[in-house]
Amino acid sequence: MKTQFYTATTLDGFIATEDDSLDWLFALGDPTESTYPEFIEGVGALAMGSVTYEWVLDHSAELIAQTGSAWPYTQPTWVFTHRKLRTVPGADIRFTSADILSVHAEMRAAAGARNIWVVGGGELVGQFHDAGLLDELIVQIGSATLGRGKPLFPRRVLPPRLKLTSVQRIGAEFVELRYTVVNE
Ligand SMILES: NC(=O)c1ccc[n+]([C@@H]2O[C@H](COP(=O)([O-])OP(=O)(O)OC[C@H]3O[C@@H](n4cnc5c(N)ncnc54)[C@H](OP(=O)(O)O)[C@@H]3O)[C@@H](O)[C@H]2O)c1
Repeated sequence: MKTQFYTATTLDGFIATEDDSLDWLFALGDPTESTYPEFIEGVGALAMGSVTYEWVLDHSAELIAQTGSAWPYTQPTWVFTHRKLRTVPGADIRFTSADILSVHAEMRAAAGARNIWVVGGGELVGQFHDAGLLDELIVQIGSATLGRGKPLFPRRVLPPRLKLTSVQRIGAEFVELRYTVVNE
């Protein structure tokens, strides 16, 4: 069982614009050319910050058109927030502001032998890393730069803590890199 950060990023290390647009990502072409189907099969629990959660809710019309459902995940999902947020009928969504270690223990129990996916944003992933809980980074680097925006992973992780394990071209516009995180 691993705790993974799987995400798309621009070449200059942003996962969204400052105002949370992902238009740069959707402009890059066919999202079905992806490692996502195999990745999500292995996921047993998810964590995300409230901005990412609200982005999904704000785009529910597109999700319903594509998948027939307003919520894309069948696995239990922990949403980190200090606020009271809307929920999605029928979805297993658990709001929390508890400490990362205790939430991770709950997630591990729910995930069983499967992996934990920290969806983002980058600062929340950084909090999992600070607690020594992040095992793997899987990033699809798209052929775009934004100059500024929401950061991929705002932490300083120096050698020898990241081990490159895989490099894979995906379609015309992405390269996927996988790193094992060597925790202290
Ligand atoms: N490119 C991609 O594939 C990809 C992947 C994932 C996300 N995204 C996008 O990237 C952007 C990420 O936004 P973001 O960086 O602002 O981050 P975020 O992690 O989605 O949301 C940050 C918010 O989560 C809450 N939070 C974070 N840590 C917490 C903790 N320990 N306890 C309680 N609450 C906590 C806080 O909000 P409260 O005010 O609610 O407390 C915080 O302001 C979004 O636009 C998302 O759609 C892109």
